[in-house]
Amino acid sequence: MSFLFSSLAFLLLITTTPSSPATATATTPLRHGYYSATCPPAEFIVRDVMRKSLLSDPRSAASVMRFQFHDCFVNGCDGSMLLDDTDTMLGEKLSLSNIDSLRSYDVVDDIKAELEEACPGVVSCADIIVMASRDAVSLTGGPNWEVKLGRLDSLTASQADADAIMPSPRANATMLIDLFAGYNLSVKDLVALSGSHSIGKGRCFSIQFRLYNQSGPGRPDPAIEPRFREKLMELCPMGGDESATVGLDSTPVVFDNAYFKDLVGGRGFLNSDQTLFTHPLTRKYVEVFSRDEEEFFGAFVEGMVKMGDLQSGRPGEVRRNCRVANGGRRPAEEEHLPPAFGLARWI
Ligand code: HEM
Ligand SMILES: *[C@@H]1O[C@H](CO)[C@@H](O)[C@H](O)[C@H]1NC(C)=O
Ligand SMILES: *[C@@H]1O[C@H](CO)[C@@H](O)[C@H](O)[C@H]1NC(C)=O
Ligand SMILES: *[C@@H]1O[C@H](CO)[C@@H](O)[C@H](O)[C@H]1NC(C)=O
Repeated sequence: MSFLFSSLAFLLLITTTPSSPATATATTPLRHGYYSATCPPAEFIVRDVMRKSLLSDPRSAASVMRFQFHDCFVNGCDGSMLLDDTDTMLGEKLSLSNIDSLRSYDVVDDIKAELEEACPGVVSCADIIVMASRDAVSLTGGPNWEVKLGRLDSLTASQADADAIMPSPRANATMLIDLFAGYNLSVKDLVALSGSHSIGKGRCFSIQFRLYNQSGPGRPDPAIEPRFREKLMELCPMGGDESATVGLDSTPVVFDNAYFKDLVGGRGFLNSDQTLFTHPLTRKYVEVFSRDEEEFFGAFVEGMVKMGDLQSGRPGEVRRNCRVANGGRRPAEEEHLPPAFGLARWI
């Protein structure tokens, strides 16, 4: 009912919004080789910058790959999370899940700068995120796959939408299953995509409650294996530096299935990780992926492709600078759009 209502309101809004020649509606079918005529070296350039970035900061692979999740879940894969705040817009960078946590925005800037030199105004920031995420996985030992391209960049971003949508590290499996189902992502997709935590780090901030308060004052989540808990308490002491970081699995620079083996052993870093082994619906996939890395890789690629297909249907453009819309600010007509959450389309 409310879905129908917001769909109608949304359609009315876009059909009555005059569009400038530089913008189009972000519903173009995505396809492989989208830039093969207009920017043949695009995919090569992205991989090259990613390779260099990894040499100077091995964690940047994880940080950039995380962008795909934070971009695609908030109003589709439209580069909205890359927009800086303006006088009239609080963007997604301020959102609790993103602030002091998302990093390596500069890697996307470097990629964009090289692409603008090679083929000005052609390759969208949303597509850069999808290409770079794929490269991050394959350059750290994970699977390689062909990505569909042709996304447009949003004209706007919304801190409120990111706050409302992005899950807390304390989320339980039930909440995560429901969240992902809203994007037509299955329980298997959820577990496979969580395997992205095979690379990268998290802050002590994200596990303070889990270590010291979850079962009452001073008491931890009972699902943590006791020796692992001691190690975490050493790395993240109560009242210590909450910006200190810890690997999300036992091999945080290699994309492999160690994450799932860790979960089976009670050594997941976040509540949202360990809960996948606690809950019967997700546990069976954790077990399969912990035993069979190929099975994990296949399911992960499938999940990334489905997540990459999420589009809002809103007006878009190819930004010249990933941090600002080409017009410099969002058009007034855009200011009261309802969130596209639930309206996303899969092409
Ligand atoms: C299922 C729900 C998820 C939750 C609750 C979640 C939550 C988190 C949290 C709390 C962190 C650490 C942030 C910090 O402490 O600063 C993190 C890191 C990360 N997340 Fe997720 N995440 C989820 C799913 C995903 C998905 C689907 C992907 C990508 C496909 C992803 C990729 C990453 C990566 C690569 C990192 C490490 C980033 C770095 O080292 O900079 N996450 N996630
Ligand atoms: C999961 O979290 C939600 C929201 O906090 C809560 O209502 C629900 O009872 C939790 N489910 C389980 C199985 O703990
Ligand atoms: C522990 O959690 C309770 C309830 O959520 C909260 O009131 C209290 O401030 C927390 N204590 C610490 C040390 O975080
Ligand atoms: C949802 O996913 C299923 C399985 O991947 C697919 O067959 C179906 O077409 C999808 N539905 C939508 C609305 O995209």
